[in-house]
Amino acid sequence: MVQRNDPCWCGSEKKYKKCHLDPDQNKNKKSLVGNQKKEKKNPLCLSSEERQKMRVAGAFNAQLMDYIRPYMLPGITTNQIDKLVYDYTIQHGHIPACLGYHGFPKSLCTSVNEVVCHGIPDERALENGDIINIDLTTIVEGWHGDSSETFFVGEVSDEARFVTQISFDSLYHSIRAIRPGGRLGDIGIVIQNFAENNGCSVVRDYQGHGIGRTFHQAPSVPHFKDTFSANFILEPGICFTIEPMINAGTWEIVLDRKDKWTVRTKDKKLSAQFEHTILMTESGPEILTQTKLGPKEGHSFLRDGQAKPKSFGVLAKIRS
Ligand code: MF3
Ligand code: CO
Ligand code: CO
Repeated sequence: MVQRNDPCWCGSEKKYKKCHLDPDQNKNKKSLVGNQKKEKKNPLCLSSEERQKMRVAGAFNAQLMDYIRPYMLPGITTNQIDKLVYDYTIQHGHIPACLGYHGFPKSLCTSVNEVVCHGIPDERALENGDIINIDLTTIVEGWHGDSSETFFVGEVSDEARFVTQISFDSLYHSIRAIRPGGRLGDIGIVIQNFAENNGCSVVRDYQGHGIGRTFHQAPSVPHFKDTFSANFILEPGICFTIEPMINAGTWEIVLDRKDKWTVRTKDKKLSAQFEHTILMTESGPEILTQTKLGPKEGHSFLRDGQAKPKSFGVLAKIRS
């Protein structure tokens, strides 16, 4: 158990008593969700039948990620990946959520190197040394599963490995930080502290989101500190994504002027992202989009002997 004068588990480098002690004891708890009268059902909280639908949607999305995993090799075009995703989804009787979403022209987002998110598949072939984020969203019987992974194409640079590691670890650190009745804002605190302590930056302009029958719904899930999410209580049954976009350089981004979708880092340095759909249950967060074949919590993306991220040790201990 962390003591009052120990450093806080969230990585803020403040003393525990000055940081998360009160909220951990449910003092000063203001709830935007929970302020509603008890008998009124919170529409963001799913019933057990609805949770089951989301589990099925998340599992299919993960299965699709495992299906395309072996194709992430030099020479394949992102249009070919798009066709694989479209065909597999349709053949299984489901719908690619991205296709036609606010006019998006393809079935997934393919974000290569300095592309932060919403890259559009095209005729460019992947090259040795690229990193590519594959962001998949599927509608399964009316319910959405949404997840993404960053893949290495052949041999990639140490910087690519590092920023990918920070994105992956920050996602899992944030998942371990949350609990039923806890605060949504802890996600952003943990991700920002971890990324910035390791010399990386966190994208502000795009956030995680509530998910269910709707692709993007309340609450917004910032991957940085903010006041609104700090007061939002994670009630059991709430479903949302965490999808930290972590940059090797500046957090600032530029939207492509022509296609109005592709988001790039302002300094053209690398950006990496991982995303899971998460269901908060009575006993803790459940990852709905865990793949069978992909990297598991604790996975190392680093070259043998490469300097590891500064650890985030206290967190794991208290939250386990
Ligand atoms: N999958 C993305 C997310 O994580 C959203 C992509 S929307 C699209 O929220 F239109 F660009 F496909
Ligand atoms: Co998402
Ligand atoms: Co996504």
